[in-house]
Amino acid sequence: MSILKGKNILLGITAGIAAYKSASLVRLFIKAGANVKVVMTPASKDFITPLTLSTLSKNPVYSSFVDEEDEGQVWNNHVELGLWADLFIIAPATANTMAKMSNGVCDNILLATYLSAKCPVYFAPAMDLDMYKHQSTKASFEKLNAYGNKMIPAGTGELASGLVGEGRMAEPEAIVDFIQKDILSKLPLRGKSVLITAGPTYEALDPVRFIGNHSSGKMGFEIANAAANLGAEVILVTGPTHEKISHTLVNVKPVTSAEDMYNEVHKHFENSHIAILSAAVADYRPKTVADQKIKKKDATFSIELEKTQDILKSLGEIKKDQFLVGFALETNNELEHAQGKLKSKNLDLIVLNSLKDKGAGFGVSTNKVTFITSSNDVIEHSLKSKAEVASDLMNQIQKQLHA
Ligand code: CTP
Repeated sequence: MSILKGKNILLGITAGIAAYKSASLVRLFIKAGANVKVVMTPASKDFITPLTLSTLSKNPVYSSFVDEEDEGQVWNNHVELGLWADLFIIAPATANTMAKMSNGVCDNILLATYLSAKCPVYFAPAMDLDMYKHQSTKASFEKLNAYGNKMIPAGTGELASGLVGEGRMAEPEAIVDFIQKDILSKLPLRGKSVLITAGPTYEALDPVRFIGNHSSGKMGFEIANAAANLGAEVILVTGPTHEKISHTLVNVKPVTSAEDMYNEVHKHFENSHIAILSAAVADYRPKTVADQKIKKKDATFSIELEKTQDILKSLGEIKKDQFLVGFALETNNELEHAQGKLKSKNLDLIVLNSLKDKGAGFGVSTNKVTFITSSNDVIEHSLKSKAEVASDLMNQIQKQLHA
């Protein structure tokens, strides 16, 4: 999944021949899962039609302060457009538009939107090489950068004039790549590695049977998603699950048994900054695993079980600077038991689930949790979706890390 998924992107198009590439840019943003709206200068419509752009973006295209198609002449609100946008990208940005932007001129809807937008603004210049080199153009670049806008530099190559030089708008793929990298570089967990366990474990009894539990893995997958959206590189070690995740920053490591999970987790812990163990690991496994399918013979059948290794506890014993988070699923004396686990497993934070709470626990999309910190703060949360709980958890971790 791209970091642009779910983002509201406003694409501004000005009157340059490179406007034909704006269609590809819209497609790439849509493919990345973004919502796209397009605002154009009137003259840019000579280079690309609003119909192409509205079809690709699945949204109306704005090129004047009033909606010309509408007989009632509806006012196109540039302030609302600016507020809607999480990002504003002006591509191509002509010398004319940049000069106006740098001087606060707002004689068309694109410029008025730019002036009222509060979100990050990117601009991708496109013009002939001599215009690109001109002092006044350079002054526009400097001013626009000084105002906090981000320039996506033009490339070198053949230009519409037939001349060869600097001034070609960056290719749509390069523009998307630039923006993604820029967003990632500003995220609070950029450069951090987060190790997460999720789901159940299956402990084999014979080649066809196992002991398992009803954990869906959903909570752990939501945490992985929340951490990756904050820019962290995530390793998600998961037991068997139907949950799916596709995020460029999440690396999924499927495992089956508690022993597999223990080994996989220990491969990555040393290089992790944060470890969050949400898996419902089997506490016991069959002492022997039959080579052949066990046949039914007697009226009763006993299985001897032995303890699995406590993965979380083993990490608490070796941790250096890692921030370690565990989960506790309790049915009675919840707070006391969770505080006990926090201490005995040397955790920084424990997430308490009480099975007494309706809507908490296995197989549901909601959860009700209480966070208990190593300094014994107890923070109760209301019933929320697992995605919201994941986001609360990542906020709590960041708060403690910066305390
Ligand atoms: N856990 C683990 N490895 C195990 C068992 C548990 O890493 N073999 C982790 C879980 O992922 C969870 C935490 O330990 O983060 C708490 O698990 P839980 O089963 O609630 O607690 P236990 O310590 O196993 O104690 P008990 O079952 O007696 O409540």
